[in-house]
Amino acid sequence: MALKTTSTNKVPAFLAMAVMNATKELEAAGAEVIHLEVGQPSTPPPDAVNRALTSALSTVSTHGYSVAFGEWPLRERIAAHYADWYGQKVDPAKIAITPGSSLGFALSFLAAFDRGDRIALPTPGYPAYRNLMLAMGLEPVLMPARAAQGWVPDLEALKASGKLPDGMLLASPANPTGVVMTDDEVRDICQWCHLNGVRLIMDEIYHGLTFTSKPATALAFSDSVIVVNSFSKFFCMTGWRVGWAIFPDELLEPVERLAQNLYIGSPRPMQAGAMAAFDDYPALQQHVDRYRENRDILMRGLPAEFLGESAPCDGAFYLYADISGLAGTPDSVTLADAMLREAGVACTPGVDFDQEQGMRHMRLSFAGSTADMKEASRRIGDWLPGYLKTL
Ligand SMILES: Cc1ncc(COP(=O)(O)O)c(C=O)c1O
Repeated sequence: MALKTTSTNKVPAFLAMAVMNATKELEAAGAEVIHLEVGQPSTPPPDAVNRALTSALSTVSTHGYSVAFGEWPLRERIAAHYADWYGQKVDPAKIAITPGSSLGFALSFLAAFDRGDRIALPTPGYPAYRNLMLAMGLEPVLMPARAAQGWVPDLEALKASGKLPDGMLLASPANPTGVVMTDDEVRDICQWCHLNGVRLIMDEIYHGLTFTSKPATALAFSDSVIVVNSFSKFFCMTGWRVGWAIFPDELLEPVERLAQNLYIGSPRPMQAGAMAAFDDYPALQQHVDRYRENRDILMRGLPAEFLGESAPCDGAFYLYADISGLAGTPDSVTLADAMLREAGVACTPGVDFDQEQGMRHMRLSFAGSTADMKEASRRIGDWLPGYLKTL
């Protein structure tokens, strides 16, 4: 007799993983691949972070469970970061330390929504938002963010639809487009959501990684917003799995109970290391300067027809190229596979981020070294014309 499997957890496959697997096979066979597919910093966290972790390992208390919301000194340290960085007062009691922002989303969805609730979110967007919603029985309502609207989600269309969602999830800077919303845009959407009873979740994981502005936190504009953040990107601590989320008063109790049952508490040694993450902003800023230079190298060095009407990439470390102008219009999955095997450059097809129009786009991460960006531009420029002739 067939045993039960879930009928609801129909989470789509992540195509970026197929690229990663193919890349590993090629490297095992001796190929030298340039990695533009990975969404993580190529540099380690500041030395002080490693030192704080090492010294914590010799302390007996760090071997036990943390409380569900995380270690109080780290929550206070994060609150101090909000005062320093944004001039924003935050009560540490509202800050929950999570194993990466990924768990911050899980907690937020479970605490704020019921099965069947409709949550608006942009497309293209980070695929785990949508996939996690589907796994939890929530209904993602996709808001197109296209070149014609400056790659900002079309909120007017949502408002005009007459059917209000229960929640909304936005990221600024955004993955995969690198779009940074202005403070006025964030303020307007915070106010609109609050007035209309729409629970807003703001993903601020790419804060710090902006090239033309220093965005305010959505906490400045709303008491009902949930802000999710992490040590993974600006702080170069992707594998440490430490993030945080700031919840409004009415969600604190349910979130605490959920956290106790979902993961008990975040890893204590990693929290001890994260305490030192805010001590050296200038060292972290050097990486941001390199990302800006990397972006400029790709924008100048890649063939114009490969870039097309690409998104502005004013933040994060992604270039979302529009490949639809290429002669023979290959789809992004085919092009990514050929580019990996023939030019030795790995990048992510847009279909992971946008199931409708992602075949026309490629995401290139410029979190690597400047030398890699130059070499990738050279390889793609040398290879592309010959490849297009074969189509
Ligand atoms: C927009 C966005 N949010 C959240 C995450 C999850 O990050 P983490 O769980 O490492 O904090 C990512 C990872 O790439 C991301 O791109």
